[in-house]
Amino acid sequence: MIEIKGLNKRFGGLVALDNLSLSIGPGELFGFIGPNGAGKSTTMKVLAGLLSPDSGSAHVCGIDAVREGERVKRLLGYMPDFLGVYDDLTVHEYLQFFAAAFGIERAKRRSTIDSVLQLTDLTDKQHAMVDSLSRGMQQRLGVARLLLHDPKVLLLDEPASGLDPRARIELRELLLELRRMGKCLMVSSHILSELAEMVTSIGIIERGKLLFAGPVAEAMSRARLGQTIAISLESAGADEPEALSLDRAHALLSSDKRLTGVSREGEQLIVNLADAEDGRPASHHFVLKLLIDSGARIAAFEPRAAKLEDAFLRLTKGVVN
Ligand SMILES: Nc1ncnc2c1ncn2[C@@H]1O[C@H](COP(=O)(O)OP(=O)(O)OP(=O)(O)O)[C@@H](O)[C@H]1O
Ligand SMILES: [Mg+2]
Repeated sequence: MIEIKGLNKRFGGLVALDNLSLSIGPGELFGFIGPNGAGKSTTMKVLAGLLSPDSGSAHVCGIDAVREGERVKRLLGYMPDFLGVYDDLTVHEYLQFFAAAFGIERAKRRSTIDSVLQLTDLTDKQHAMVDSLSRGMQQRLGVARLLLHDPKVLLLDEPASGLDPRARIELRELLLELRRMGKCLMVSSHILSELAEMVTSIGIIERGKLLFAGPVAEAMSRARLGQTIAISLESAGADEPEALSLDRAHALLSSDKRLTGVSREGEQLIVNLADAEDGRPASHHFVLKLLIDSGARIAAFEPRAAKLEDAFLRLTKGVVN
């Protein structure tokens, strides 16, 4: 659906995009993550046919965004990072205006607007003034506007920025719904956690260069996060003086070379276990066995799921190449 090859863009002496290539397939919700100034908006503007790159190509549904900008605009919906302010318009008028601008037939406008209002949960707000909406509602209105011409590809530049946690969850539900409808979405953010629970794949961009792009599962395995296990022991009672104490368990596990780190957090031991050479999680059973054989009475043994955020940190630190 989106195919970018060797994109370069300079602004004066500043390299905004540095040989950027990436591809996004149908049904994907692609999270485009990078710090301020990384080149996210620049990439999206090229895809939306609004900015010409110095070299390289960008295609949307097989159409050249650089040479056939007008055709591409009909296929995609692009929401810039800041929505223009329109005073003196109600939500309904705002959508009517854009429906007319998109050339949607008059007879179809009403039902189209009703359905995008419903999808974005703004039906109750249709008579409210646009500038009276909260930021979260304005973002949803921005999405509603994009949906009027039923594009297959949506580019959303920082849609979650400035939203409170509840509005963010609502936005997430909306984006997931759009994905279920078969749309391909590219969503940018400078904070991974805004997107971590919804994306199917991510691209990490820094200073115009793509550091990683691929499915979330691949990001996790490439980052070789290993496993983390939280262990707590039953405190040794007077009746069982030989039970292994937390201190002794700490020392025991610390001396095992298969473990990459053992630390103490309050009454818990936190153990890190490296992934196997092939990137698959190593078995943690030996840790359990080691403790039991040494007389530990285990109260809890909880392997913790690795977080995409941890993978992101490792990938951006250049630990992985
Ligand atoms: N029209 C322009 N003229 C000059 N420099 C520009 C222009 N647009 C972008 N840049 C520069 O290009 C670089 C990439 O900008 P871009 O807006 O793509 O970053 P971004 O990843 O979207 O950042 P943010 O998270 O702040 O939105 C930045 O250094 C920016 O200052
Ligand atoms: Mg930007």
